[in-house]
Amino acid sequence: MTLKTLKMKLDITDINNAFSPTHEIGDPHKFIGRYEEIESLILGLSTEGSFISIFGLRGIGKSSIARQIKLIAEGDTILPRGLGLDYLIPKKGFNYMVHLVSCDSFITDVTSLIKRILLGDDKNQSIFYHNKNGDKRVVAYKEKEKASIGANLYAIKGGVEGEDETTYEIRLTDDLIQEFKQALATTQKDNQDRIGIFILIDEFDILKNKEGFASLVKTCSSKFVKFGIVGIGESTEDLIEDHASVGRQINSVLVKPMQDKELRQIIESAVNTLKKKIKFEDSVITDIIKQAEGFPYFVHLLGKESLLLAFKRKLDCVCPSIYHEIIDNLIKGKIQLTQEFRYVEACRTSAEREFLLKLFADSENNIILIEDIYKSAREFGIEEPSKYMKELIDSKNITPILIKSRDGRNVRFADPILKIYVKKREYIHDKYK
Ligand SMILES: Nc1ncnc2c1ncn2[C@@H]1O[C@H](COP(=O)(O)OP(=O)(O)O)[C@@H](O)[C@H]1O
Ligand SMILES: [Mg+2]
Repeated sequence: MTLKTLKMKLDITDINNAFSPTHEIGDPHKFIGRYEEIESLILGLSTEGSFISIFGLRGIGKSSIARQIKLIAEGDTILPRGLGLDYLIPKKGFNYMVHLVSCDSFITDVTSLIKRILLGDDKNQSIFYHNKNGDKRVVAYKEKEKASIGANLYAIKGGVEGEDETTYEIRLTDDLIQEFKQALATTQKDNQDRIGIFILIDEFDILKNKEGFASLVKTCSSKFVKFGIVGIGESTEDLIEDHASVGRQINSVLVKPMQDKELRQIIESAVNTLKKKIKFEDSVITDIIKQAEGFPYFVHLLGKESLLLAFKRKLDCVCPSIYHEIIDNLIKGKIQLTQEFRYVEACRTSAEREFLLKLFADSENNIILIEDIYKSAREFGIEEPSKYMKELIDSKNITPILIKSRDGRNVRFADPILKIYVKKREYIHDKYK
């Protein structure tokens, strides 16, 4: 290290970049742990025509894994070498063309998904770009697309932000599938030096209508074309019900809660990016890990907030007093988080509902028997607990807080991070404190 770098002071950008509570991990140097998941995915990449499925709870780290597997498929070896998994990569290396598509409210069904892949988006070029004369093909496709919408053949729901939602009938036409197959075939023909094309679809669970997906995968997968999906669920079946009909070997990867030692490494890695100019005291690290309950999100959140406060106070260490200030802010709802917004929205108007939500959050189970909670609520004098449930289970636009099981006897938190947050959050109302 030169004298200059030694003397260099940390600036606010270093502080802001050390943790990433709101972003998935793109930089393989900052990606921690996940040996088994990456091992299984590398094997999936070298299994011809196999189908890849990555699933787990919200906020557990799926999209970060998806980003890494994209890099690995494209030939980057930083992470495999770091994990000692490079021996699983074929000698000549991977050189896939990867389309990592994230579903959003505009991708409602398989038709709009295919169109997104054909036309590209801000993260992916159109797959036509891999072909000779790619630009011309994209232009030609867009022209054709316009004409077909004009002729009312099929239309994408939504489309461009701000535009009126179109309500044409949405059909997965044979034409579109043929078009897609043709594009894949041309891609293969024009890219003989590549292993293949890998289409990885994140947030697959939010696709409202998955009809036709399994058969699409079945007809389009080949030695050259590989598909993968990423989404919230406990199994591949949660993501695609008719998974058997993809007709392929499925490499399923369940993303588990992170181990304590991995959570610790997140902090250590962040401290390294700060050239160790600000440290975390050990008791603070231990408590952050305890609070996180296996979710890397909380480590990033608490890490980031306490680091920023230490920086503001011009300290070179995140000591317990700084950290406790942050925890205090968190439980009082003073940190602006989407979880806080949801909490206030649900509980503001009723002390009873707040208490009920707390009871659900305190349950040790993920799948919670409603009657158990009602029983406890009655013991505290809430005679008709079901009266307060509507706002927790219904929601107009966004996902509800609690999701009921099919038989209506159980609920689970749609967002497990919100469950942990509710547990920590101080009461708004005094009545049941
Ligand atoms: N392997 C990892 N190493 C370090 N941080 C991680 C890792 N995986 C996830 N994170 C962090 O955890 C949070 C949630 O990750 P994300 O990949 O978005 O989860 P999901 O897609 O399952 O909701 C983000 O803040 C991200 O930066
Ligand atoms: Mg994600």
